Amino acid sequence: MNESTTKDNRKFIIREPLVENAEEIIDYSKILFASTDQVLTTLEEYTITVESEKQWIEKINGDPNSLILIAEINKNIVGLLFFISNSKKKISHTGEFGVNVHPKYQGIGIGYALIENLLKWARQNEQIEKLFLQVFASNERAIRLYKKFGFIEEGRFVKAAKQLDGQYIDIIQMYIETK
Ligand SMILES: CC(C)(COP(=O)(O)OP(=O)(O)OC[C@H]1O[C@@H](n2cnc3c(N)ncnc32)[C@H](O)[C@@H]1OP(=O)(O)O)[C@@H](O)C(=O)NCCC(=O)NCCS
Repeated sequence: MNESTTKDNRKFIIREPLVENAEEIIDYSKILFASTDQVLTTLEEYTITVESEKQWIEKINGDPNSLILIAEINKNIVGLLFFISNSKKKISHTGEFGVNVHPKYQGIGIGYALIENLLKWARQNEQIEKLFLQVFASNERAIRLYKKFGFIEEGRFVKAAKQLDGQYIDIIQMYIETK
């Protein structure tokens, strides 16, 4: 568990979730998906059950090369990060992550702190050498944040996403080496 302070002076903690947090993570994720069109999943598509969320948390917590982190203010989830390593041997030194912050708590350093904790963990992990992520080319705030940590664009999937209004979006893949 790691305690930090937001830019507006509120205490938050970053920790791995327990299976008991499954329902709260689902509620948090619904708020997130309803708040942005800069992620792949739409609210309507997000139909995960508490049972399968519990299984997911249990699986990741039991995998020494994958990680879920939640950020909490006053015991409420305000941010989530997950890193999933690849299980196939030849790509097992790599993995993909995703990060998001509650719409009411964005811009106060929580996303930054979640990524900082992931990088610290990855640098201590014996197997993980490369982290990557995919981000909508239109998501300027997220891209700026990733670049601050040294993430580099390694590829662009042209018109890979289409917003509900018909607008095409390129998806950019970015990576960082941790060894
Ligand atoms: C993108 C997202 C994860 C960023 O998280 P956030 O908590 O809002 O971002 P932060 O407050 O940590 O960072 C914002 C800024 O402060 C900077 N910052 C924060 N803490 C810092 C620190 N300790 N040291 C240096 N810089 C810091 C960040 O680099 C960034 O810089 P900017 O002002 O130039 O944008 C969040 O806005 C979000 O969830 N958006 C919707 C979902 C989404 O787009 N997810 C990403 C999909 S790929």
